[in-house]
Amino acid sequence: MISLRKNIAAMDRYVPGFQPDEPGWIKLNTNENPYPPSPKVVAAIQEELANGGENLRKYPDAGSKEARRVAAELYGVDPSWVIMANGSDELLNNLIRAFADAGDEVGFVHPSYSYYSTLADIQGAKVVTFGLTDDTRIAGFPETYTGKIFFLTSPNAPLGLGFHNDYISELAERCEGILVVDEAYVDFTDVSAMELVKKYENLVVTRTFSKSYSLAGMRLGLAVARPEVIAALDKIRDHYHLDRLALVAATAALKDQTYLRSTVSRICATRDWFSSELRQLGYQIPPSQTNYIFAAAPDADGKQVYDALFAHKILVRYFSDPLLAHGTRISIGTRGDMEKTLAVLSELD
Ligand SMILES: Cc1ncc(COP(=O)(O)O)c(C=O)c1O
Repeated sequence: MISLRKNIAAMDRYVPGFQPDEPGWIKLNTNENPYPPSPKVVAAIQEELANGGENLRKYPDAGSKEARRVAAELYGVDPSWVIMANGSDELLNNLIRAFADAGDEVGFVHPSYSYYSTLADIQGAKVVTFGLTDDTRIAGFPETYTGKIFFLTSPNAPLGLGFHNDYISELAERCEGILVVDEAYVDFTDVSAMELVKKYENLVVTRTFSKSYSLAGMRLGLAVARPEVIAALDKIRDHYHLDRLALVAATAALKDQTYLRSTVSRICATRDWFSSELRQLGYQIPPSQTNYIFAAAPDADGKQVYDALFAHKILVRYFSDPLLAHGTRISIGTRGDMEKTLAVLSELD
């Protein structure tokens, strides 16, 4: 008789966004980048595969030294302040494993990234969520937050609003435990909490390569924090968590900031154009600092908009959560993708 841990038996699994198998879909449901990664990333992967894949015989660098060195230079810290990861999801998981025991409190804003909840459930930690106020602050956040970890998605998902650094500083001071600023979408805005890591010993900033760097398929992320925090995360990760191709891809991507900026600015321009067109159709859209928008149609709920687009092979994301059911989250694709999406939405009655 198989006997699962009680919390594993009781928990629901996280359901990632739908990935259709057949071609022909416009995918605006998982905030992927519509453009390919930097050609330098592709060249670095090809180089790693040279000589019939000779390098693949050997294990990768378990310490991700080169990628960490390049990231550290970019963020103006010592490499001991940086850890690479197999997607930022790996970091979120290991942060909980390192800092929250079973029964300890893990907090985050709801709505935000629901995977925090799954990870806390696996650990058997207690989840406490907080809402947002109209001026993008956390409703009812205690003067001293005693939970072991608080995850702040900034800019927020799925609304797309960023938190000010003054406010993040205030939160770091009010958190007795670790404050994780999940900056998965930060490259689409100008404000980052990265500089605050040097000031607050309990602050961790996580980043992903899945959105702005167009590398969702490689599974890459990183975190910047005090060396004591990084050492804890380093201790509990799988020792070869990044393969050779991911490591060279990460290094080349970080080095090519010019390419990053060019695709990001194209996406932001498309986002602003698409948002203003939808607003003219009567949609309510909070100003987004990300590569997606959360759009509420004047006369249709999120599911109806989802269904209408689905019928035209356009995938977006709707949430059954009552706080979000009125809208849909639409990732920003190419200008052509968004023109097709707009054409369908213009016909919606
Ligand atoms: C807020 C947030 N954090 C983290 C992630 C996970 O990113 P990764 O692909 O690096 O695991 C996502 C992915 O959608 C996200 O939206």
